[in-house]
Amino acid sequence: MKESIVIRNLRKTFQLSKKQRKINETDNPLKVAVDDVSFTTYRGEIFGLLGPNGAGKTTTLRCIATLIKPDAGEIFVEGIDINDPVNIKKNIAFLTNELKMEKMFTPNYLFDYFSSFYGIAPEIAAQRKKYLFEKFGIDKFAEVKIGELSSGMSQKASIVISLVNDPNVIIFDEPTNGLDVITAKTVTDFLLELRDQGKSIIISTHIMNLVEKLCDRVGIILDGKLVLTDTVKNVLENHPGMDVEDVFFKVFNEVNYEKY
Ligand SMILES: Nc1ncnc2c1ncn2[C@@H]1O[C@H](COP(=O)(O)OP(=O)(O)OP(=O)(O)O)[C@@H](O)[C@H]1O
Ligand SMILES: [Mg+2]
Repeated sequence: MKESIVIRNLRKTFQLSKKQRKINETDNPLKVAVDDVSFTTYRGEIFGLLGPNGAGKTTTLRCIATLIKPDAGEIFVEGIDINDPVNIKKNIAFLTNELKMEKMFTPNYLFDYFSSFYGIAPEIAAQRKKYLFEKFGIDKFAEVKIGELSSGMSQKASIVISLVNDPNVIIFDEPTNGLDVITAKTVTDFLLELRDQGKSIIISTHIMNLVEKLCDRVGIILDGKLVLTDTVKNVLENHPGMDVEDVFFKVFNEVNYEKY
C-alpha cells in the first residue's frame, strides 16, 4: 500500500491570550495542542482522527494542510515536505464545516473561477462540474448566491468547489457536522467512492459510529497525544465483543487512570 501522509513527532503549541487563559482557567501562557504525534495514512484508505473537543484534531489537520506551522516534527504529503506549501496545496483539498465562501457569488461562478485558477481544461472542468453538481443536488441551485442557500446546501457547494482540482489527498475536518442524515450520507458515500478510486482521505471526528462505518484506520487522540493507531479491523479483532466506542472509553479510562 502506498504511503500518503507521513507525520513524525508533530508538536504544536499555542500562545494563549489573557482572555484565553481566563477561559481555560490556567496561568500557563502556553497550550500544547499537539504533542509528539506520529502516524501514516495510505492511498485507498480513510483515516479517522478520533478525539473529544479540544484534543488537537483540527490543529493536526491544519498543520498537514500548511495552514499553520508546527513547532517541531516532520510532515510529508505524497512525498512532498510541508515546507513546500505551494506544492502541497496542489495535491490536497482541505474541507471544513466552517464556511469561508464569498456569499455574493453563485456555486456555478465559484466552480468556474477555481477551475481556471487551477488551470483545468474547460471541457474537463465542465464534465466534473456536471458530475459533482448532480451528485450533491447543487445543479438546481447553481445560479443562487451562496448567501441565499441553506447552510447544508452551501456546505455541499463548498465541498464540491474544494474538490475542483481532483486532489489525491482529501483532508476533511468533521465531515458530517451540521448536516442532516440524508446530506451526511451523500457526503460519506462520496468519501467512500473517492477512497475506492485510490485517493487518500483523512477526517477528524468525535463520532465513534462514523469511524466504524467509514474509516479503514483510526487514530485516537487525547489531550494532544495519539494514544492508539491501528486499522479499525484490528482494533475490533483485538477487543472481542467491543465496538469502537467501548475501545475509546477503555483507552480514555487507562490514560486518565495513569494521569492521576
Ligand atoms: N489559535 C489558537 N490559539 C490558542 N489555542 C488554540 C488555538 N487553536 C487551538 N487551540 C487550543 O488547542 C487545543 C486543541 O484544539 P483543536 O481545535 O485542535 O481541537 P479539536 O480536537 O479540533 O477540538 P473540537 O472537537 O472541539 O473541534 C484546544 O485546547 C484549543 O483551545
Ligand atoms: Mg476541531
